[in-house]
Amino acid sequence: MKNLKFPRPVGVCVDEPVSRTTGVLRVPGAHSRAVDYYAKQLEAAGFTCMLERILPSGRYYVYGNGEVRLSFSRLTSRGEMRVFYEKMPPVTDYFKAGEKKYPNVTLTQFCTGTSVAMVCSTASGMGYVIRLRDGRLLVIDGGFHCPPYDNDYEGFKELLWSLSDGKKPQIAAWVITHVHVDHYGVLLNWKEEDADIQAYWSTLPKEGISDGGCHHMETRIPHYTEKNVVLHTGDHYVFDDEVSVDVLYTVEEMALYNPEHQAAENDQSVIFRVNIGDQKVLFVGDAAKSAFDLALEMAGGEIKSDICQIGHHGRFGHKEDLFYSFVAPTVALWPACYAQLDNDLDVRYSGAWLRGEISTVVDHYVANDGTETLTFPYELQGKSYRSPLWDLNDFDKK
Ligand SMILES: [Fe+2]
Repeated sequence: MKNLKFPRPVGVCVDEPVSRTTGVLRVPGAHSRAVDYYAKQLEAAGFTCMLERILPSGRYYVYGNGEVRLSFSRLTSRGEMRVFYEKMPPVTDYFKAGEKKYPNVTLTQFCTGTSVAMVCSTASGMGYVIRLRDGRLLVIDGGFHCPPYDNDYEGFKELLWSLSDGKKPQIAAWVITHVHVDHYGVLLNWKEEDADIQAYWSTLPKEGISDGGCHHMETRIPHYTEKNVVLHTGDHYVFDDEVSVDVLYTVEEMALYNPEHQAAENDQSVIFRVNIGDQKVLFVGDAAKSAFDLALEMAGGEIKSDICQIGHHGRFGHKEDLFYSFVAPTVALWPACYAQLDNDLDVRYSGAWLRGEISTVVDHYVANDGTETLTFPYELQGKSYRSPLWDLNDFDKK
């Protein structure tokens, strides 16, 4: 990345790698006008503006010239300008909407890792699929690839094909939240004929951190390296007139503002929101407290969402209360098996949520109950949850 040619902004005091593919220039104490000035500098050098967003949390821009992609922003909370630079990803126009074949957008939660779910508290993976009205899919993770956990490859592939009416699935983007095999595992068995994948979306930590998992992904997932689009906070992708995606946090923020925590792989999870009509669906992967603190700083009130995938398979404690109270979802998606939700360590918080004692949530979807599909616009149904283990464990007496 050091060989990339592009204009530098005035006042750079740090130029270093920030993720596996990306470098960062940091301009501390940058006035808001410094952003305008840099944009003009880029335009004069032949760069084109691909995104301009002005939000309460900051100003975000993406510029490119065919060779280099620059995502730069000035955060309101830090007063710092950051310029993320990397090679231009090969796919940039993958959001051309096709003819509308389906009456509604759908979101499917995949039932993963249930075969040992009754006995093992870390048995469940995570997999979601959003089907656009033209039939393209936005895929999020998928699940495990091998024993002793489940092999979710066949089941997840079948799900993608059934959502595509038996035709080869067209995947506009496959998000890999982080470097754990309960998330990207299904891709290790993936074959070219299983689906047309236009792009992967992920942000891996910089060299020297989680190298084993990163290398595994880079070498075992078909065409991962050439198809990966690196996500940055503030990115906004539009699929069609109904569905768009906002990126709210990536491991780059941890590298910049809490570097001693970069190696915590769950907190490397990308946090992003899918906007479907006027409803918002938040995905957090396995992120927890440290990532949530930065995401709240980046997004603030923009984090409020109707539907929320609960982080780390529901294994969260009181320290995450603040984040979820800002999200204030009315629908909770739990990529979890019964044992994860019910074991003694975790029951105190997620259990209370699931019993409806302390949350805004009206509808609960638990992956262990089976693959389920939500249709948009989503109407609340009062879908409560009672684990079969609660009775076995005499839960109500705890
Ligand atoms: Fe996980």
